[in-house]
Amino acid sequence: MNGPVFILKGNIIYSKEINKFTICEHGYLVCRDGYVEGVYQTLPFKLGGYPVHDYGDCLIIPGLTDLHIHAPQYSFRGLGMDMELLEWLEANTFPEEAKYKDTDYAKKAYKIFADSMRKSATTRACIFATIHRPATLLLMDLMEKTGLDTYVGKVNMDRNSPGYLSETTKESAEETLEWVKDVYHRKYENTHPILTPRFTPTCTDELMEELKKLQMRYQLPLQSHLSENQSEMAWVKELCPWAEIYADVYDRFGLFGADCPTVMAHCVYSDDREIGRMKENGVFIAHCPESNMNVSSGIAPVRKFLEKGLHVGLGSDVAGGSSENLFRAMAHAIQASKLRWRVQDDSLEALTAEEVFYMATKGGGAFFGKVGSFESGYDFDAVVLDDSRFKSPRPLDIRSRLERMLYLADEREVHAKYVKGKEVDLS
Ligand code: GUN
Ligand code: FE
Repeated sequence: MNGPVFILKGNIIYSKEINKFTICEHGYLVCRDGYVEGVYQTLPFKLGGYPVHDYGDCLIIPGLTDLHIHAPQYSFRGLGMDMELLEWLEANTFPEEAKYKDTDYAKKAYKIFADSMRKSATTRACIFATIHRPATLLLMDLMEKTGLDTYVGKVNMDRNSPGYLSETTKESAEETLEWVKDVYHRKYENTHPILTPRFTPTCTDELMEELKKLQMRYQLPLQSHLSENQSEMAWVKELCPWAEIYADVYDRFGLFGADCPTVMAHCVYSDDREIGRMKENGVFIAHCPESNMNVSSGIAPVRKFLEKGLHVGLGSDVAGGSSENLFRAMAHAIQASKLRWRVQDDSLEALTAEEVFYMATKGGGAFFGKVGSFESGYDFDAVVLDDSRFKSPRPLDIRSRLERMLYLADEREVHAKYVKGKEVDLS
């Protein structure tokens, strides 16, 4: 579809509010200059002359946002899961991430990652790379080619890291500065830098101070991990006895929301004080339910986050999570919340299909601006789903067909995808 205006026809389903789908069966979704102009049951006369792409009985949903994924870990997704977080990092993650010093390996591995992201229903993502500047730039080149709109971060690690995957504080700060300059020279359209201190156990206070300077100089956002796992929580307490809550280890340095747009993965063990701070500072939470199960972290109190009005999106957290498929993450979020309600705390009701869909679209999309809905003025990110692979002896309404997608869909259902009005090549 070329030109400033084009129209998609199909069964349009999206969220305006968190607990309700907005549905327009056999309707028209109009794109003008890369933005949503509107959704119409009958095409207005004035739009009659513009090209219409008729997707028949397909579903059309907003693009999905993955608020937390590790690109270098894609190579061992689904492997080595019989461990808890800290052991899993030592045994699987750090040895694999060290390989990205070799740009030939990085090229091979990141090509596989970028291809999978391109073919998925994801249109936006916040991505961790590794500590290596050349490989991170390679990943950014590849992500730019996919047409997806992403934040990518060179990881910082200057303590408690194995010798083969560690930087000095000075190296880490200097390499990050050089990387940011490289990124600006490359003039990417859709690929943006994001500061990425791995987590407090691998980042000194001095490094955090250096990162704040960079944050202010280049107005950079930040991504990291927060209150994920009990052993990690205990370690952070030991390393930072001055911190009253885990969030202090970022907030003390001005790296926790407010003037620094921030997304924190997990927040499984965030207490009321930490939740209050996230609300106050506008911090986004990336809820990663599959990862939280795989590395035995726990189940985040997502219902509480929603009740308090926090920004919540979903993350695949590959390779803590085994798949980049965000439909899986939506189903896992529902399933985990039910178990939490049953075995841990029956004051927090389970999540619904409407709520997890909102998180995967409009909730996480908000980190990127007006993204993740088909309300007028939103970026035109759309995914066309062909669910004809799933046979049914009875007719299903549009809501049921979408609900079924959360449990059954993968990239095979992705028939077409648009990011900011541009069609992504799915071949
Ligand atoms: N905490 C620090 N690094 C990581 C990581 O790579 N994955 C997860 N799930 N948690 C982390
Ligand atoms: Fe992670």
